[in-house]
Amino acid sequence: MIPGVGHDIIPCSGRDYLKLKVELLRTEKGVFMNYDDFLELARKRRSIRKFKSDPVSDEYIDRIIEVARLAPSGGNSQPWEFIVVRKKELKDRITELVKGQYAITHKMELTRGPELRFPKYAKPITETPGFGNAPVFIILCGDLRTKEAYPKDVVLVQGDSIFTSSLASAFGYMNLAATSLGLGVQWVSAVASPYVQTLIKILLHIPKELEIYHMMAVGHPDMVPPPKLVRARDELIHYDYYDVAKLRTEQQIAEFISACRT
Ligand SMILES: Cc1cc2nc3c(=O)[nH]c(=O)nc-3n(C[C@H](O)[C@H](O)[C@H](O)COP(=O)(O)O)c2cc1C
Repeated sequence: MIPGVGHDIIPCSGRDYLKLKVELLRTEKGVFMNYDDFLELARKRRSIRKFKSDPVSDEYIDRIIEVARLAPSGGNSQPWEFIVVRKKELKDRITELVKGQYAITHKMELTRGPELRFPKYAKPITETPGFGNAPVFIILCGDLRTKEAYPKDVVLVQGDSIFTSSLASAFGYMNLAATSLGLGVQWVSAVASPYVQTLIKILLHIPKELEIYHMMAVGHPDMVPPPKLVRARDELIHYDYYDVAKLRTEQQIAEFISACRT
């Protein structure tokens, strides 16, 4: 057992810490995790929007959060707090609130031309969102006061983006961790809307110092996601200078968005 790892305290500075981290990642063959395995994990991670009602153990949830705890954050501020929601009445209420937000999203979509409407919200939402059936919701919150960990000019100019990016980095880690455990997750961002967020904060007793980032519904997948359009590598990499010849036209962007939605 490596001291500190898996417990509350991880040595956090100097060579010892680096050594520990290297030890943790090293396999018996003395190399880091196999890249192909990691690529496969990244490929396997897909959004799951329908879940079986089978339970997910506390151990699995702890493992997901353990990985998120190690994510990079601005100034190592670690703004995250994780609220694990299992109570059915709470999950039902959150699902209902998100459904209410979807009704607003639908109305907003109607203000756009039909060709630009997000298909899911082009019609009124009548069904309960599939994530409502997931056995666990993890709500990721950030403590706004941790922004003081950044240099002052960063706090003033980029404070919000660094704060949000730090939470997004933890969320990305959580997605991969859940996939590695064979679980499916749905990323639910509607919980961050001011209306839904306020009501969830009251429901779950979340203090005002915290902001809800997003919610992850976790469970056993009950669907196979359709193949997804992934942009070609060559079109998006630039070497030394931005290759202006690769800048997409308005038309190409519109076609891409349309293709993503089919
Ligand atoms: C910042 C962010 C917010 C997202 N919000 C939602 C959401 O509210 N509901 C949802 O079903 N999926 C949401 N997603 C998932 C994306 O729709 C999904 O990642 C994308 O369509 C690609 O599909 P994949 O995850 O299967 O690769 C979100 C993803 C990100 C990164």
